[in-house]
Amino acid sequence: MSVSSISAPSPFRAMRVGPMTLRNRFIKSATNEGMAKGGVPSKMLAKWHEAFAKGGIGMTTVAYCAVSPDGRTFIDQVSMNEQSLPDLRALTEAVHRHGAAICAQITHGGAFTFLPELTSGRPMSSSGGFNAVGALSGRFLRRGMNEADMEQVAEEFAAAARLAREAGFDAVEIHMGHGYLLSQFLSPMYNKRRDQYGGGPENRARFPAMVLKRVLEAVGQDLAVICKICVTEGTKTGATAEDAAVVARVLEAAGAHLLVLSGGMNVESPWIMFGSPLPKAAVEGAQSWLMKMAMRILKAKEPRTEFHEMYFLEHSRKVRAAVRMPLAYLGGVESLANVAQAMADGFDCVAMGRALIRNPALVNEFHVGQAEKAGCNRCNECVSMMYTAGGTSCVLDAPNDPALNAMPAAA
Ligand SMILES: Cc1cc2nc3c(=O)[nH]c(=O)nc-3n(C[C@H](O)[C@H](O)[C@H](O)COP(=O)(O)O)c2cc1C
Repeated sequence: MSVSSISAPSPFRAMRVGPMTLRNRFIKSATNEGMAKGGVPSKMLAKWHEAFAKGGIGMTTVAYCAVSPDGRTFIDQVSMNEQSLPDLRALTEAVHRHGAAICAQITHGGAFTFLPELTSGRPMSSSGGFNAVGALSGRFLRRGMNEADMEQVAEEFAAAARLAREAGFDAVEIHMGHGYLLSQFLSPMYNKRRDQYGGGPENRARFPAMVLKRVLEAVGQDLAVICKICVTEGTKTGATAEDAAVVARVLEAAGAHLLVLSGGMNVESPWIMFGSPLPKAAVEGAQSWLMKMAMRILKAKEPRTEFHEMYFLEHSRKVRAAVRMPLAYLGGVESLANVAQAMADGFDCVAMGRALIRNPALVNEFHVGQAEKAGCNRCNECVSMMYTAGGTSCVLDAPNDPALNAMPAAA
């Protein structure tokens, strides 16, 4: 055992994240649940997150809560508006009953949208120009944001965070990764601006940091404010771990309470995000023919990828070396040994997606010595389940109850 692993804190010890105390170092990462038909959080969504809370997680993250109607990528995303409040409250109460914390991932899709209708024909992004993802929905062009747009979007994030507080959430996670609007600023593949918001990674982080500051001003005394970023975009012209280290420094200086370190882009490199290929079923099961087309194109580009545990470790270490603030390691955490490795490497906590979809009781089982490994086989079929009537689940289990997924959480 190395010296660092002896001095690393136990993952079962509590930790502070801004104003919040987590009962342990395990976070359920945001994984699109497919449990908010038409934007309404369902009973299935509450039941799903309750299972992670019951299973011992420190905090569970509700995926993909849209800050505005135009900020949605799909129709079936949680909408952060007054109408959702009773259902969101039912969701947070279900998690709190078991002593866990709950976080709302708040997001704006920017040019990454499959909505049939937007208020503008040209979706917003960091820069204008050809819109590869929008081309499939007939939106061939994206529009570069001006300062008034930035002001409006920053305010939408702040309003969504205030709503999260009202609904009883303990934290918000600002999505700055995977190709959504704020990631379109961080990414040199999208951001071609020549003003103070473009150029090097520090400039590209300026607008995301502005959003962070606005959210901190709105709720930072009461809620933990977390940012999810990419440690690599995994493409030739995309952002690197060196860029991520600079971005992390900017977000640390702006006052973020925790960074969740992810990687890969939904459109250009999803296999990087998962450390393994997408299943064929995820392509054929896509919600619309547009999505299906987009995913077929992606699948054709996919390189051969062999899954290995902790696949973002080398990249994430570079970010760890750059900042002192709390960091969550994410990507291929599969076993208690992986968790110990992350803690020994100086990460403050771990975020897990598929391992917990496979076994929501994993943290309790780790704790009492009943399990050492998650048992997820990385087939990634859970990705295709997002679009089924019952929503996301592990294909090794029975699917979720579609009736619960059709009922508002508070009904
Ligand atoms: C079914 C599924 C849906 C996902 N949806 C989201 C999402 O909505 N937002 C997000 O930030 N990441 C999403 N992810 C990515 C995960 O949060 C995580 O970054 C990824 O699965 C790698 O972590 P893991 O190896 O622990 O699964 C999703 C992953 C899966 C498997």
